[in-house]
Amino acid sequence: MCGIVGYIGKKEKKSLIINGLKELEYRGYDSAGLAVLKDEELSFFKAVGKLNNLANKCENFESNGLGLAIGHTRWATHGKPNEINAHPHLGQYSCVIHNGIIENYKELKEKLEKEGVSFLSQTDTEVIVALFEHYAKNLEAWQAFEKCVHELRGAFAILLISKKDKEKIFFAKNAAPLIVGKNAQNELFFSSGDAPLIGHCEDVIYLEDLSFGYASKDELTIYENNKLKTPVFTKLPQDKSYAQKDGFRFFMEKEIYEQSRVLSEVLMGRVEGGEIVFDELKDENLKELSEITLCACGTSYHAALASAYLFERVAKVKTKVEIASEFRYKDALITPNSLFIVISQSGETADTLEALKIAKQKGAKTFAICNVDNSSIVRLAHLSILTRAGIEKGVASTKAFASQMLTLWAISLYIAKEKGFDIHEHLQALLHTPNVVVVSPTLHERIRRLSKRYLDGHGFFFIGRDVFYPLALEGALKLKELSYLHAEGYASGEMKHGPIALADSKLYTIALMPQHLLYEKVKSNVEELIARDSTLLCISALDFDLSDDLIKINPQKHYMNEFFEMMLVLQLLALEISIRLGNDVDMPRNLAKSVTVE
Ligand code: M6R
Repeated sequence: MCGIVGYIGKKEKKSLIINGLKELEYRGYDSAGLAVLKDEELSFFKAVGKLNNLANKCENFESNGLGLAIGHTRWATHGKPNEINAHPHLGQYSCVIHNGIIENYKELKEKLEKEGVSFLSQTDTEVIVALFEHYAKNLEAWQAFEKCVHELRGAFAILLISKKDKEKIFFAKNAAPLIVGKNAQNELFFSSGDAPLIGHCEDVIYLEDLSFGYASKDELTIYENNKLKTPVFTKLPQDKSYAQKDGFRFFMEKEIYEQSRVLSEVLMGRVEGGEIVFDELKDENLKELSEITLCACGTSYHAALASAYLFERVAKVKTKVEIASEFRYKDALITPNSLFIVISQSGETADTLEALKIAKQKGAKTFAICNVDNSSIVRLAHLSILTRAGIEKGVASTKAFASQMLTLWAISLYIAKEKGFDIHEHLQALLHTPNVVVVSPTLHERIRRLSKRYLDGHGFFFIGRDVFYPLALEGALKLKELSYLHAEGYASGEMKHGPIALADSKLYTIALMPQHLLYEKVKSNVEELIARDSTLLCISALDFDLSDDLIKINPQKHYMNEFFEMMLVLQLLALEISIRLGNDVDMPRNLAKSVTVE
């Protein structure tokens, strides 16, 4: 995700900003930029790709002496990763950097366009500086900024500098992190994470949501919820690796905890006035679609399997699912008027890329559901929809899976709506999903304590029905990737056709028992296993006295909300078992994050 740094002081600003951005590199980015305001001069530089490209662009630039500087690494959400869309975004005499998404940017843009303002980029960010300068025509810079911030909806961490008031950095924060730091030399720093601040300042303020204000060499003014707040600094922890993981033990753990925010970002701008909106799909005629083929590998394949139930049930489109490595060699038939959708976190998986090439050659219309803009898969597909999970460092996919699932579910609702079906209940559940994946300390602690009972045995079966069957496959994959224990996922109705032969007290069965989908059916399957003495760990919102262990999820109104909460439980279970076994959670043996070989 994007990174932000800012500085007020006398030190050489270009290197300070680039070094700060380097500390945020691990979050992933596709372009970068910086701006320096000193005396009357506003200088700015932008580059696509790595920070070295930015450093090369401003090789001959140096800025010493008192001034302001801001810098940004961008992970594309609105508009391609190119120099025009990179931050800072410029007005006539001001510039801005921003993390997050301005949900109402289109209406603001239209309003400003009517006033004669023209825009260069496809980003939501550019409206911020345009709106600021629009108000600054008749107001002082601070008043104009305040008025501008009050009109923004969505998630944002913003730094803005302007020649209209060349001593101040204006800032705002809502639902995206922003920290202010200071040191004994009276220098002020801004950052979206701790890491760039370590070594530069000792005291910080983690700004709260709905905060905005300005900072200069001698003054820091913060408003929170429109009330003036006395700045209270706390000590900054000085461990960098701890800072990059935001205090979590592993990146995977951090990524599990990030899921609620990520899912909110997935939905941003995609549900408006009770309607599903996909700008990417507006020119597609999906009403007449006869068939969808979903194709992927690993976890992305599980997202394909689970969403296939939704494409058929909700959007009423015949849907097939293919493992990419199988599809490549099966000489598959492509039906006219069918859609071929590949799903990939990295966008570089060799098998998925090849399957996409084949489907395209055979004349299929192709879509990519992908987390990495400009990746090979995104470039090749006719159309792509980004999953907005941000960089995922843990090899085992967690937030990427969650974002794929939510995106695919939303697309199925979009198609259903196009076809005139009632999607009201699903839409309510979709909007509720970010709340469902908030990790409660009680849940995590319960799973941590339970995990000690599941460290041996001769195998794990994860069982479920319907969408919970692919979720069972995903739970088993997470456990085997991280713990190296043998685990399989099964459709619970299939157990009696063979696998039940393995049942005994050392066979651990993890049963997904949603209240709102086939509960009684799964219960019968579970009872069959209990009768054969298998050790049962049930995950359900309902009590179930016969199970050996029960992880209770919150009562939900919709089975898809149960799906996401159970996903969280399975991720935490795999994490905690693997930590107890002393394994490297972020880099399990024999695995690579991006599988670019066949
Ligand atoms: O980048 P992709 O989504 O195309 O990757 C597909 C699989 O390699 C990936 O999901 C893999 O199974 C992960 N290790 C799962 O945690």
